[in-house]
Amino acid sequence: MAVSFLVPLLVAALSVGVDGHQTTVLPQSKFIPLRPASSTLSIQLTLALPPTNIDGLHAALYDVSDPKSPNYGKHLSKSEVEAFVAPKPGSVKAVTDWLTQHNVHPEVVSSSGDMLRIDIPVSKANSLLGANFTEFEDKTSGTTLVRTLSISLPDDVEPHLKFIYPTTQFISATTREKPSFQVVTPPALAHKRQTLPQICSVDVDPECLEDFYHIPAAPATASGNSLGVSAYIDEIATQADLDFFFLAFRPDVTTAPDFSIVSVDNGITSGNGTLEASLDIQYTVGVATGVPTTLYSVGQPTTEGFIDLVNFLLAQDELPLVLTTSYGFNEVDFDGAEDLANTFCDAYAQLGARGTSVFFCSGDNGVYSFSFNSTCDATTFGPTFPSGCPFLTSVGGTQGFTPEVAAPFSGGGFSNIFARPDYQSTAVEGYLDALGGTNAGLFNSTGRAFPDVSAQSVNFITRINGVFGLLEGTSASTPTFASVVALLNDALLNAGKPPLGFINPLLYSQGAVALNDITSGSNPGCGAQGFPTMEGWDPVTGLGTPDYEKLLALVMGLSA
Ligand SMILES: *[C@@H]1O[C@H](CO)[C@@H](O)[C@H](O)[C@H]1NC(C)=O
Ligand SMILES: *[C@@H]1O[C@H](CO)[C@@H](O)[C@H](O)[C@H]1NC(C)=O
Ligand SMILES: *[C@@H]1O[C@H](CO)[C@@H](O)[C@H](O)[C@H]1NC(C)=O
Ligand SMILES: *[C@@H]1O[C@H](CO)[C@@H](O)[C@H](O)[C@H]1NC(C)=O
Repeated sequence: MAVSFLVPLLVAALSVGVDGHQTTVLPQSKFIPLRPASSTLSIQLTLALPPTNIDGLHAALYDVSDPKSPNYGKHLSKSEVEAFVAPKPGSVKAVTDWLTQHNVHPEVVSSSGDMLRIDIPVSKANSLLGANFTEFEDKTSGTTLVRTLSISLPDDVEPHLKFIYPTTQFISATTREKPSFQVVTPPALAHKRQTLPQICSVDVDPECLEDFYHIPAAPATASGNSLGVSAYIDEIATQADLDFFFLAFRPDVTTAPDFSIVSVDNGITSGNGTLEASLDIQYTVGVATGVPTTLYSVGQPTTEGFIDLVNFLLAQDELPLVLTTSYGFNEVDFDGAEDLANTFCDAYAQLGARGTSVFFCSGDNGVYSFSFNSTCDATTFGPTFPSGCPFLTSVGGTQGFTPEVAAPFSGGGFSNIFARPDYQSTAVEGYLDALGGTNAGLFNSTGRAFPDVSAQSVNFITRINGVFGLLEGTSASTPTFASVVALLNDALLNAGKPPLGFINPLLYSQGAVALNDITSGSNPGCGAQGFPTMEGWDPVTGLGTPDYEKLLALVMGLSA
C-alpha cells in the first residue's frame, strides 16, 4: 500500500485579500472524493470560540490536583470553570453578527458558551464559507464523510473562531477495539473459590481482581459518589446480563445493583447487550459495587459525539466523579486539526478541575495506535488519541499473576501534538535515559508520554446477550482502574474528604509506592519491537497496576 496516505494533512493558512482568511488542506488519499454533497443536504456545524483564559484553567487544574498545593482537593465550581473557557463578548458579537448577516441563527451548545452550532443546507454552507462540501469515502472504515478541502472566513471574523467542525478535518469515526470473544462455560463457583488464584490465569473475574489488587468486596456506601461509563457505536449493556454476571461472580452480593442509561445524541437505551458496553458495565458495577453507575450512550461515533458528551456533562451541576472511556482515535488524524485536539483536551481539563477523574484506554495495538491498517505503513509509531492529552489518565494493559507482565498489545508512546507535562518529566526522562538509542527516530521524545497506569487486561469473563465469553484489551483494564479510583473516592467521601479528581500529579509524585511496578514485557506492533518495560514508569504499563490498600493509605494521608 502506498505510503502517501500517511503524509500528514498539510494546512496552509493564508490571507487572500477580499476573499478573507482561507484554510486549505491537501486531498488525502485515505479519503476518496465521490461527488459534490447534495445542495439540499442539511449539515450541522460546530463553531468553537477562543476561550478567555485557557492558561488560567490549566493553572487552576494543577493547583487543585497537586498534593503539595494548599488548594489540593478544592475543586472548582461549574461557574468558576466556565469563567476560564467562556468566549470574550467581542468574539460572540463578531461571530453572531456575521451569521445574522447571512440569516443564520446559531444555537449555543455548551454551558460556557464556547461552542455554537448551526444547521444549514450544504448550498448555504458553501456560500457562507466559500466551501465545496463533498462526499468522501473513508477507505479505513468504508463510511462516507462530508468535508471540504477549503474554507474562507472574513478577516474580522477569523480571529474569533478556533475552528468550525466538520469542515477541513478528516478524522475517522471512533474506534473501540473489537475484542476477541471466546465463548466459555464459567467454572463452578465452589471449585473456583478453592482454586483462587490459580483459576485466575484461566479467566479473570471481579473476585480475581479483588484478590490480586486488594480491592474490598464490601459494597461502597458513600452518598454523592458516582461513576460514568461512555458508550459509542450503538453499544449497550443490559441488566439481565449484569444480574447473571453477579449470580456467577459476586455471590457475596445478594442483588445485583442496577445502573442508569443516559442517552446523548439519540444514543440507544435498549437492545441486546454488546461486547464493549457489557464488559465496561460488568467491570465497573462488578468491581466498584455500590457506586451509582451511569452508562452514557452516545449516538454519534464521531469527534462530534465526544464533544457532545463532554458538553452534556459540563452542563450538569453534578458530574460523575469518575468517567471511563474505552474508545479513541488515531492521533495522526488530528494533524492539521490541532485546535480541535486542544479543545477536547481542555474539555477534559474542565472535568478534572471540577473533580472528575477521567480515564481513557491506551489502545490495543502496541506502539501502532488503534488500527493496524491506518498506520502500519508509517515510518514512525502511531500514538492514540486522546491518551496524549495531559489532563486525563491513560490506562494500559497487563496479563498474568505472579509475575504480572505487560500485555503485548498495550498501547503506549509519545504524543506528537501535546508536549510533556511537568508532572511526568522526571519519570519519563528517567525512562528515556535508560532507553538510550532504542527506537530513536520512531517517536517524539518531547511529547506527552502514555499510558500513566495499567491493570489486568486479558481473559475477562463477561456475560453478553446471554452467553459467557472471554474478552481482552485495554477496554478491560480501563474500567478496572477507574473502579479502583471510584472505591477510593468512596472511602474519601465517607471520611469527609474531597474526591480524587485529576490524579496524575499525585500518582507521578507519590504514587509509585502504591502501585505494582511492571518490569517484564514490551508492546510491539506492525513488526516493530515496541518499547520495553523497565523499573519505574514505561510507555507500556505506565507507573504500574493498582494496590487498593496501599493507594487507600496514600490518599487518606493527604492533607485535603
Ligand atoms: C468541488 O468538488 C467536486 C468534487 O466533489 C469537484 O468535482 C469540483 O471540481 C469542485 N468544484 C470546485 C469549484 O472546486
Ligand atoms: C437479540 O438476541 C436474541 C437472542 O440471542 C436474538 O434472537 C435476536 O435476534 C437479537 N436481536 C437483535 C436485534 O439482534
Ligand atoms: C486490514 O486490511 C486488510 C485488507 O484490507 C484486512 O483484511 C484486515 O482485516 C485489516 N486489518 C485490520 C486490523 O483492520
Ligand atoms: C513533537 O512533539 C512536540 C510537542 O511536544 C510538537 O510540538 C512537535 O511538532 C512534534 N514533532 C513532530 C515531528 O511531530
